[in-house]
Amino acid sequence: MKLIYPYIKANLNKILLGILCMVVVDMVQIIIPQIIKNIIDKLALASFDSKTLLFQCIFILSLGFAMAVLRYGWRNLLMGSARNVEKRIRDDLFKRVLSLDMAYLDKVKTGDIMTHAVSDINHIRMAFGFGLIVLVDIILLGGATLSIMIVTHPKLTVFAMIPMPLLIIVTKNLGNKMHTFHTSAQKSFSMLTELVRESFAGIRIIKVFNFEDLTGQKVKHASHDYFKKNLKRAFITALLRPMLILFFNTSTLIIIFYGGFLVMQDNLTPGELAAFLQYLGILAWPIIAIGWLTNLFQRGMASLNRINLLIDSKLDVRPPENPVAISKIRGEIIFHGISFVYGKTRPDQQPGTISDKRPDKRPDKQDDNLTLEDISLKIHKGDRIGITGHPGSGKTTLIQLIPRLYNPTKGKISIDGHDIKTIDLDFLRQNIALMPQEAFLFSGTIKENILMGRQPEKKRLDQIIHVCSLKTTLEKMPKGLDTLVGERGITLSGGQKQRIALARTLITQKPIIILDDPISQMDTDTASKVILRLNQINLDASLIIISHRISALALCDTIYILNKGQIEAYGSHKELIKSNAFYKTSYKVQQSEKGI
Ligand SMILES: Nc1ncnc2c1ncn2[C@@H]1O[C@H](COP(=O)(O)OP(=O)(O)OP(=O)(O)O)[C@@H](O)[C@H]1O
Ligand SMILES: [Mg+2]
Repeated sequence: MKLIYPYIKANLNKILLGILCMVVVDMVQIIIPQIIKNIIDKLALASFDSKTLLFQCIFILSLGFAMAVLRYGWRNLLMGSARNVEKRIRDDLFKRVLSLDMAYLDKVKTGDIMTHAVSDINHIRMAFGFGLIVLVDIILLGGATLSIMIVTHPKLTVFAMIPMPLLIIVTKNLGNKMHTFHTSAQKSFSMLTELVRESFAGIRIIKVFNFEDLTGQKVKHASHDYFKKNLKRAFITALLRPMLILFFNTSTLIIIFYGGFLVMQDNLTPGELAAFLQYLGILAWPIIAIGWLTNLFQRGMASLNRINLLIDSKLDVRPPENPVAISKIRGEIIFHGISFVYGKTRPDQQPGTISDKRPDKRPDKQDDNLTLEDISLKIHKGDRIGITGHPGSGKTTLIQLIPRLYNPTKGKISIDGHDIKTIDLDFLRQNIALMPQEAFLFSGTIKENILMGRQPEKKRLDQIIHVCSLKTTLEKMPKGLDTLVGERGITLSGGQKQRIALARTLITQKPIIILDDPISQMDTDTASKVILRLNQINLDASLIIISHRISALALCDTIYILNKGQIEAYGSHKELIKSNAFYKTSYKVQQSEKGI
C-alpha cells in the first residue's frame, strides 16, 4: 500500500467525486424497482389513471437519464484516475530501472523488466481501478439490494439465494483459470513474436546457411503452441457465460415459482414480485463481482509486491549522502590496489549488507577468480594512457570502475585526490566521456546520435566530424547528418557506427575521456587517420584508450599491458617494444599485416 498511496493521493479529488457519482447511480438503481412495484400494484388494483402512469414513466425516464450522465461521469473520473496512476507508476518504474546499477542489471532479465512494465502495472491498475469500483458496487449495491429483498420477504430471499454461492465459486475458479490461460497465451505470443523478429534480424544467416526449413519449423511450432493455448482460453470463456446465466436463471425460476405461490396466497403483491425479479437482476453483478474481485486483488497485490521489491532494492552503487564540494574535475586518476569480481561488488554503505531482496545471484563460474587483481596506477592530468592485453584480461572491467558503473571489490579509486565514492555521482559521470566497446546507436538521425540533446558550437561539431573521419561518409549519405539510422533508417557498417559513437563521446569537452577499443571495426586506413587526428587535437583531457592495435597506442605517454586481471608491464611504446614479449609480437604481427 505504501507504494500506491502517493499515486492515489495525487488523484484523490477525482476518485472521491467518481465514488460519489457511483453512490448516486447505485441509489437510483435501487429506487427504480420500487417505482415499478408501485405502478404494478396500483395497476393490479385498477386504481391508476393514464396521467399518473405517464407521470411515473417520465419520472423513470428522467432517473434513467440522470443515471446515464452520472455513470458516464464516474467511469470517466475513476477509469481516468486509474490510467493516471498506471502512467505515473510506469514513469517512475522506468526512471528507477534506469537508475539501477550494473551489478543489479547484470542479474535481471530483460523479460522481467518487460513483465513489470506491462502486465504488473496492468494488474495494479485493474486491482485499484476496477477493484475500487467493484468494491463499492459489492458493498453498496449488493448490500442495499439484499437488505430490501430481505425486508420485503426474508424466506423468498433465502430461496432465491440458493444458487448464488455457485455463481461466486464459478466466477472465482473459472476466472482464475481464464487468467492463467490468458497469461500463458500471451507468453506464447511474445515467444512467437520474438522468434519472427529474430528470424528477420538474422535473415542473412538463414539464407546463407539454408536455414529456411529449420526456421519455418520453429515458427510453425511456436504458432501451434499459441493456437493450443488460445483454444484453452476460448474453452473457458465459452463455459463461463452459459454457467453464469444458468445459475442466474435458476434463481429467477425459484422467485417466479415460490413468489408466484406467495402472490396466489396473498402473502406478496404482484408489484413486490416484479420488484424482486428486478432486484435479482441488480444483485447478479455484485455477486459475480465477489469472485472476480478476490482474483483481481490477489493479482494486484502480487504485482505490487514485485514492483515494490524492485523499487526498494538496495543498490551497491549509490550517490554519496554528503558529496565533497568540488566545482571542477582536473583529471588526475589514481587506482589504489583495486581488485574486482563480478557479482561481488562492495555496497556503498554498511559493507556486507547486500539486500536479501536482490534477485538470485547468477552462478558465477569465476567466483574466486579475480577479474582484476591488485591494480595500482596513476594517471596525471592530461596524460594519454594506453591499455592493451589479451581478450578477457579485464580492460573493459577496469575502465568501467572510473564512472562507477560498478564498485570495486577491494581498494579505491580517487580523482583529483578525492575517493570517487565521495564525489556526487551525476557530477562524476558528467565529467567523464566514455565510449563503450559496443558501438550502440539509438534509432534516430546521425546528428541526434552524436549530440544526444547537447548543443555544441557548429565549429566543435565540424572539428569532431573531421577527427572521426566522418566528412566523406556523411557526404555520401542521402541526408548527411540528418540521415535516419537503425530500424527506421539505413544500416551502417560496424566502422561507421564506431565513428559516430566516437563523435558522440568527443563532442563535449570533458576532463576525462575513455575510449574502449574505438577503432576495432575500422579499416586500417581510416583507423590511422582517426588516431592521428585524435593525437593532433588539443583534447585538454586525461585520455585512456584501450586497443588491441598497437599503432593506436604508440603515441601514449604510458601503456599498460593487462594479463589475467593484473598489470603485466607498463611503459612507453619504445620501452615496451624492447621489454615485453606480448607487446613486441603484437606490434610485429600488426606491422607485417599492414604491409601485406
Ligand atoms: N557483466 C559481467 N558479468 C560477469 N562476468 C563478466 C561481465 N563482463 C565481463 N565479464 C568477465 O570478466 C572478464 C574480463 O572481461 P572484460 O570485458 O573486462 O575483458 P576485456 O579485456 O575488455 O576483453 P576484450 O579485449 O575482449 O574486450 C571476462 O572473463 C568476462 O567473461
Ligand atoms: Mg573489452
